Amino acid sequence: MSNTGDFVVIKALEDGVNVIGLTRGTDTRFHHSEKLDTGEVMIAQFTEHTSAVKVRGKALLQTSHGEMYTDTETDAE
Ligand code: TRP
Repeated sequence: MSNTGDFVVIKALEDGVNVIGLTRGTDTRFHHSEKLDTGEVMIAQFTEHTSAVKVRGKALLQTSHGEMYTDTETDAE
């Protein structure tokens, strides 16, 4: 597999949002942590190295599965 995975868009709604990449394979561990401040956007793919992404802090996420906020029960409109 190369870099043909889905994209995920993360927009920080507060300072210090963390976007953490977790490794693909038998060993699931953090391999990258990116800090975003308010209004900053990260567009990331799932790759041969990255099988999961963890987001900490208030953010708006857009994926092929829909749009959601990290901090509420309510989906984005
Ligand atoms: N070097 C990583 C990779 O190719 C970069 C990366 C891709 C990443 N997607 C990510 C880092 C999501 C954090 C979160 O897999």
